[in-house]
Amino acid sequence: MVNTSSTNSRHIPVMLMESLENLKIKNNGIYVDGTLGLGGHSDKILEKIDSGILLGIDRDEDSISIAKKRLENNKKIRFYHNSYQNLRIILDELKIDAVDGILLDLGLSSFQLENNKRGFSHKHDSSLDMRFDINSEDYTAEEIIHKNELTDLTQIFKDYGEERHAYKIAKLIKELKGEIDVMSITSIIDRVTPYKFRLKTYSRIFQALRIAANKELDHLKSFLDDFVDLLNPGGRIVIISYHSIEDRIVKHKLKDLKKNKIIELIYKKPLTPSDDEISENKRARSAKMRVGEKIG
Ligand SMILES: C[S@@+](CC[C@H](N)C(=O)[O-])C[C@H]1O[C@@H](n2cnc3c(N)ncnc32)[C@H](O)[C@@H]1O
Repeated sequence: MVNTSSTNSRHIPVMLMESLENLKIKNNGIYVDGTLGLGGHSDKILEKIDSGILLGIDRDEDSISIAKKRLENNKKIRFYHNSYQNLRIILDELKIDAVDGILLDLGLSSFQLENNKRGFSHKHDSSLDMRFDINSEDYTAEEIIHKNELTDLTQIFKDYGEERHAYKIAKLIKELKGEIDVMSITSIIDRVTPYKFRLKTYSRIFQALRIAANKELDHLKSFLDDFVDLLNPGGRIVIISYHSIEDRIVKHKLKDLKKNKIIELIYKKPLTPSDDEISENKRARSAKMRVGEKIG
């Protein structure tokens, strides 16, 4: 059952025009939206394919339900509650060898962020779940805090949040007794961070816990090791990331593939959203898009 408390919230697709242009969509092609979300990008991709198909994948069942409703009359899309890292398995089941384009719009949607029960945002007090797939056996963010020793929790805040006060914050969190929820974390951050740095610190610590709970970087790296085999010659990969940790991983992998003459990089520097887009959608401000084309 979808939690309707926040289904009315909208998610504005980021760098939509740039995504469509860079996927170089052919009307009979096979495309993958590896991070379907509420279907914002998929909706427009579908307008450009005629006899082709689109595979929409997301780890979050509630998001898939909303996307399904939005796109329910479209026969060209198939939905998969899965991780994009399992694309090879999905394609094998469909007996598809390779596709013409893959889009990843990483991170989380406004729908997830604004959900007041999942613990993604410092703004809503709730339990600290933070898993994209709430039915998975992965640890919740709260379990991650309980199961990791102080040194490992500090490392999570450093590696996934690039947080300067990682040790101090981790130490106070580890001293907490009983249930740890969103407020437990924000009140510790309030104790150790001057007011003007608080919002940034909340973001870094929540980002770190979310990345850890979803093993986001493992999924990304495993996908990056696989995707070229799953693209047809001339096929495009388009990846939008929202923080430097993710972007660095994408940049290095694509550069490596270029060096080995496996892909062509379409842009030397990542594309970023226009000023107009940022003024209309604050969530777009940190977006970076990288695009590669498999050499035929
Ligand atoms: C920024 S949102 C995508 C929004 C979408 N492009 C739209 O316009 O509606 C990112 C989505 O990726 C999903 N996600 C994150 N990691 C994933 C993974 N490894 N595999 C599949 N989906 C994932 C999240 O659940 C979230 O719905």
